[in-house]
Amino acid sequence: MEISLEGKVAIVTGAGPNIGSGIALALARYGATVACNDIDPAAAQACVERIERNGGTALAIPGDVTDEQQVTGYIDTVVERFGHIDILVNNAALLGGKGVLDESAEFFQRAVEVAGLGNFLNTQHVGRHMAENGIRGSIVAISSSNGWSGTAGVIAYAFHKGGVNNFVRAAAMDLAPYGIRVNGFTPTAPTPDNPALIAERGPGGVLDRPRAHGIGGETGDEPWRRPSRWTGERAPLVPMGTTGTPTDIGHAVAWLCSDYARLITGCDLVVDGGARAKNFAYAPAAPADTAGPVPLIPLDITGELDRDL
Ligand SMILES: NC(=O)c1ccc[n+]([C@@H]2O[C@H](COP(=O)([O-])OP(=O)(O)OC[C@H]3O[C@@H](n4cnc5c(N)ncnc54)[C@H](O)[C@@H]3O)[C@@H](O)[C@H]2O)c1
Repeated sequence: MEISLEGKVAIVTGAGPNIGSGIALALARYGATVACNDIDPAAAQACVERIERNGGTALAIPGDVTDEQQVTGYIDTVVERFGHIDILVNNAALLGGKGVLDESAEFFQRAVEVAGLGNFLNTQHVGRHMAENGIRGSIVAISSSNGWSGTAGVIAYAFHKGGVNNFVRAAAMDLAPYGIRVNGFTPTAPTPDNPALIAERGPGGVLDRPRAHGIGGETGDEPWRRPSRWTGERAPLVPMGTTGTPTDIGHAVAWLCSDYARLITGCDLVVDGGARAKNFAYAPAAPADTAGPVPLIPLDITGELDRDL
C-alpha cells in the first residue's frame, strides 16, 4: 500500500526551515506539487530549493497570512499556475513570548492575529476554492502541545493554539458538507532535521538545550518574583525517549492529507512518543534505557543524517 499525493497541489504557510519546510518536503516526496508561503521571501524560496533538490516541484508564494489581499493574491497565483488546490497546511505562527505578568499587548495581539487571521483567511479562501470546484480537499492546522496544556512563559501562544484546536472542530463542521476535511496536527518540540538548520544552529532541539532556553518562561528579578518552573534536574519527559523530528511530522501530515484518511475530520493527530498521553505524576524511563522507536525513514535524501533522531 503506497500513500500517494500524486496530482495534488498543496499550500504550506510559514514554510520556514524547521517544521513548515519538513511538512512541505514530505508532501512533495509523497507526490504533491507544493506552494511554499512565508512572510520572509528567503524562507519560502529556501523551502522551494530544498524540495527541488529532492526531486519535487514547488513554487514560492511569499506573503503575510494576515493580509487578505496577499492571501487571495498567492492563492490566485497557485490556481493560475497549477489549476487547483487540494491541500492547505496552516503552519505559520509566532513562537516564543512571555508569561501573563510580562507579555506586551503588542506581541500578544500580533501572535493572536497570525494564528487567528492566518488560519481563518487561508481556510476561508482555499475552502471556497475547493467548494466551488468540487474539490474534496484536506486542510490541516498546526497546533502545539501548548494548545492542550499549560506552560509558563508563553501566554499568547497558549491562547492562540487553544483557539486553533477549536477552530479545527468548527471549520470541520462548516466544510464537511463539501467533503472537505479539516484536522489539527500537534507537534511537540521536535528535533530539527533540516540539514540547513542543523548547519546553522547545530544539532539538538529544545529538550536538549540548557533549561534557560527550554520549557517555562523567564521571569523578572524584582524581589516579589516567584520561579516559573522547577529548576532542579529534569526528569525524562517522553515515554518513547524522543518527540521525533519534522520528518516524522511530515510523514503523518502527508498520510492525513491522503485519500486513506477520507473520513478523518475534526480530529487532532499527535506524533510525540507518548508525551501528551502521560499522566502528570508519571516520569518515564530514561531515554538511554528505552528501546526507542524504529529508525526514522528520511525524506531529505540530499542530507546525510547519521545521528539517532
Ligand atoms: N518548534 C516547536 O518546538 C513547535 C512545537 C509545537 C508546535 N509548533 C508549531 O509548528 C509550526 C512551525 O513551527 P517552527 O518551529 O517551524 O517555527 P518557525 O518560527 O521556524 O516557523 C514559522 C514560520 O512562520 C513564518 N511566519 C510568521 N508570521 C507569518 C505571517 N504573518 N505570514 C506568513 N508567514 C509567517 C515565519 O517567518 C517562520 O518562517 C508553528 O505553527 C508552531 O507553533 C512548533
